[in-house]
Amino acid sequence: MRVVATSVPLGSRDTGIVHVVGARPNFVKAAPVVSALRARGAHQTVVHTGQHYDDRMSAVFFRDLGLPTPDVDLGVGSGSHASQTAALIVGLEKEFVEREPGAVVVYGDVNSTVAAALVAAKLEIPVAHVEAGLRSFDNTMPEEINRRVTDQLSDLCFATSPEAIGHLAAEGVSPDRVHLVGNPMIDTLLGNLDRFDVDALRERLDLPERYVAATLHRPANVDDADNVERLTDRLHEIADLTDVVMPVHPRGEAAFERSGLGDHPRVRLLAPLGYLDFVALTRGAAAVVTDSGGVQEETTVLGVPCLTLRPNTERPVTITHGTNQLVTEADLLQAVTKALHGHIREQAAQTVPPLWDGRSGERIAAVLTQWSE
Ligand code: UD1
Ligand code: UDP
Repeated sequence: MRVVATSVPLGSRDTGIVHVVGARPNFVKAAPVVSALRARGAHQTVVHTGQHYDDRMSAVFFRDLGLPTPDVDLGVGSGSHASQTAALIVGLEKEFVEREPGAVVVYGDVNSTVAAALVAAKLEIPVAHVEAGLRSFDNTMPEEINRRVTDQLSDLCFATSPEAIGHLAAEGVSPDRVHLVGNPMIDTLLGNLDRFDVDALRERLDLPERYVAATLHRPANVDDADNVERLTDRLHEIADLTDVVMPVHPRGEAAFERSGLGDHPRVRLLAPLGYLDFVALTRGAAAVVTDSGGVQEETTVLGVPCLTLRPNTERPVTITHGTNQLVTEADLLQAVTKALHGHIREQAAQTVPPLWDGRSGERIAAVLTQWSE
């Protein structure tokens, strides 16, 4: 078992804390942590790995969220798991050796997360993992492997929900490394509530009054052409009932194009939306169909019915405390019909998960600061 490296004070070296971000959900989670540490006067650097690089997958989030422009962009880009992770490791090692950070903060469960944790641990740089302990118990998801490895390598594990503490304990993570801090993605949501303007979005994009919003990008849903065909049929059935608006993640773009998803007159395909527009779209939706992790959490707080096209979730509090339901492709239409009739909203618990109160970034900053003293 690793012991917290209190002998390496945070911020004592040249560049203090280094935040490693690379993919869309990372930016939303990092924003409140960077902001809270800035308020405490911490010396910090943002390293963008370049895992996501299109303006709509990356730069728009920095603009929308007031995140500082990354101090460096490693430009790693896309590739197989091996080639992308290898490029991340090589790029991050060079960066950490040059910068000698006092600590590295990593977010979520993407390849950039696990690569940064691995490099930092081997350089004996303390690692803090934001959103630790989530488990789907499904190793066919690359994210589950990334989560487990990252948590093993982390000196500080920041948990967003209580069940994470048990998962970490079961894997031998010492409780003194674990802090339940709430959910920084929800900090970002609550901090921007008055900027999600559904009416303005509806007018700008000429959206109908009632619609189902969809976003899908998990390999299990979008990588297989036959599966995409089946999902397209289901989404067309939903569109027979009500309009469907889908900002398409680049991963599934070509497959949904080939399957003719956009050929239905009531399906509206969009490029990926920026954060403010996407959450406005979610807020105005009669229901959301998704396989996104973050969207399950955002709909929980917004009270919008969320139908998650997955056999499992690492975020069960979104079911027990929120509007989330796991659905199969076969029962999707029925679930959407129920949602359109208001049944899911009625059944949902009216309490958000503990500590999803907009102050997680501050809690994380407080622990990091105290830890360094
Ligand atoms: C990654 C994460 C996933 C997360 C998702 C958030 C891993 C293993 N997966 O999946 O956990 O939910 O980000 O959106 O880290 N592409 C572009 N432009 C971009 C980025 C990607 O066109 O800016 C295309 C490329 O063809 C690329 C594909 O999308 O091959 C997949 O990108 P990648 O970062 O490998 O994985 P995601 O599916 O985005
Ligand atoms: N999101 C966005 N535009 C989109 C789709 C999602 O801004 O077109 C936001 C969403 O509100 C959430 C985050 O991106 O804050 C979730 O990222 P994603 O679904 O890509 O990854 P996951 O959470 O599944 O890892």
